[in-house]
Amino acid sequence: MTRIAYLAGDGVGPEVLAVARHVLDAAGFEAEWVELPVGWAEWCRSGDALPASTLEAVRASDAILFGAITSKGPREAERDLPARLQGRGLRYASPILRLRQELDLRVNVRPIRSLARNHSNLSGDVDLVLFRENTEDVYAGIEAHPFPAELREAWARATDAKVPAAGSDTAVTLRVVTRAATRRVVEAAFEFARANGRRRVTLLEKANVMRATGGLVQEVFRDVAARFPALEAEELNIDAACARVVRQPSHFDVVVATNLFGDIFSDIAAEVAGGLPLAASANLGTRHALFEPVHGSAPDIAGRGIANPLGAVQAAALLARDVGQPRIADRIEAAIHRLIEAGGALPKDMGGDASTSEVEAALLAALETPLLRSPAPAPT
Ligand code: IPM
Ligand code: MG
Repeated sequence: MTRIAYLAGDGVGPEVLAVARHVLDAAGFEAEWVELPVGWAEWCRSGDALPASTLEAVRASDAILFGAITSKGPREAERDLPARLQGRGLRYASPILRLRQELDLRVNVRPIRSLARNHSNLSGDVDLVLFRENTEDVYAGIEAHPFPAELREAWARATDAKVPAAGSDTAVTLRVVTRAATRRVVEAAFEFARANGRRRVTLLEKANVMRATGGLVQEVFRDVAARFPALEAEELNIDAACARVVRQPSHFDVVVATNLFGDIFSDIAAEVAGGLPLAASANLGTRHALFEPVHGSAPDIAGRGIANPLGAVQAAALLARDVGQPRIADRIEAAIHRLIEAGGALPKDMGGDASTSEVEAALLAALETPLLRSPAPAPT
């Protein structure tokens, strides 16, 4: 039996993930569920937001369904620790970033599509799939503040650029790009495009400024593109691409980017396509896979019963497809489309006034309705 690790986290995470699970159950998804503690409550209890026992159980699962987790700065994090754990140098590290690295979830896939009759659509014309590198770039966690003198000296020897003074008035975060990680995500994008009848793969970079890292990404992209002559390979600067996805979203088909650029572009594209609350992503490695809504933990509305569960439900559909239950995924996606088309029980952030449980009830009802036609993106 497929074993699913259930990591609800905190904020609205538990509320939205509960709906995702009820919808999976109702759609006939077969799995053994393992609920595991993770997030801010764990940090406050034990000083580790991702306990070793959770990580171990996650490694033994076939897939992970992840909700959302609150992150706070180092000072606040320290303050929230029990007295016995304070002053021990414990550092809060984001569990989702740790999971991506520890489980080597190299490729983050974000399908972004506008759904018919979604009032939140800024355009009805979005149908793109973003492949985002998921472990390096400025997310590698190689940072220093204050800027150590020995690093400053090494940099001053290595570059002609003006290196700022060492000390607490300077902070550095390293942008790391490796050929191997870049190749994996670029190949995944091209292979997906070929397998799914897509025509164009667009790289988002900024090689005119970051010549070293951007240059290596470009080199790998061109190398891989040469093996897929039937696909158009396009290179855009990230800033120009962000502008273009607002003005002409239909231009984008399959998109590939390094970690931070992919993070930013996916928020913009998702908003154009009818709202971030609907977006979900798959974090894929060779042995593990984690599925999550793209939105955050929204602590301001947590516990009020008004969180929008649709991003989490989309994540559940991605999970079902990945673990070999594609018909369940189709049913869930169709139910979401039907709910939006009917326009009745929509959550607040999509223009309605339905509570989380009302959205759930409407989704469960929509699951029962036979599929009359396959859902298509809305006309502009
Ligand atoms: C995302 C989120 C995360 C990221 C945060 C929560 C660390 O914004 O998945 O897009 O930056 O990757
Ligand atoms: Mg993001």
